[in-house]
Amino acid sequence: MILAANFKMNHTRLSTKEYLRRLDAFLEEKKPKSDIYLFPPVSALDSFETKVNIGVQNAYPAQKGSFTGEIGLEQLEEFDIKNIIIGHSERRHILGENQEFITQKFKFFKDKGFKIFYCIGETLEVREGGKELIKKYLGLQLEGIDLSYKNLVIAYEPVWAIGTGKSATSEDIEEILEFLSKKSDAPLLYGGSVKPSNIKEIVSVSNCSGALIGTASWDVNSFCEMIELTN
Ligand code: PGA
Repeated sequence: MILAANFKMNHTRLSTKEYLRRLDAFLEEKKPKSDIYLFPPVSALDSFETKVNIGVQNAYPAQKGSFTGEIGLEQLEEFDIKNIIIGHSERRHILGENQEFITQKFKFFKDKGFKIFYCIGETLEVREGGKELIKKYLGLQLEGIDLSYKNLVIAYEPVWAIGTGKSATSEDIEEILEFLSKKSDAPLLYGGSVKPSNIKEIVSVSNCSGALIGTASWDVNSFCEMIELTN
């Protein structure tokens, strides 16, 4: 099982360090079977000594260069970062990243051997259009993506379920993960209001290999609780 914490724009360098200290102590004591990933804000990156796989929520597809406000491979290499989230709905819908740019990022970080947590998910409007429309929309978000890449993880995150407290139902998740499992052998995660009260049910959906967790991961006790509940 893969459990990943997406801090988004939360936590500082100091609080991330303290979070990791407590998470590592928990992992040392419980020795859970799951692979644990943490995606802190870039300003919190450091040369951590940790059992947790650290990744970034975003990066620009270049070694270095004139891309104001961005970070590239050079900055990731300093901290030996090998995991990245690409295609998150907040980057697609708030920051305006289109499929062409996302594909460019995917190709760049695939060539560098990164483990890529590739996110897809439909908007509420698409959802209201029915199952076939959802699948068509998700298919477009997979366009240009090498679905046989060995370091690929796909996260299905319906936009309307992210940060809203309202997760998709097990039946809905199951249908979409089944659709995705026919397209790729990559581990399939669900994301969108995963929390201690629903994680067990969600990860027991067939084809579900874990969860990408935002809000409920920001508190270390809550994240540890979810690791324990799914062990
Ligand atoms: P959420 O976010 O758990 O706060 O819904 C999930 C995500 O965006 O990855």
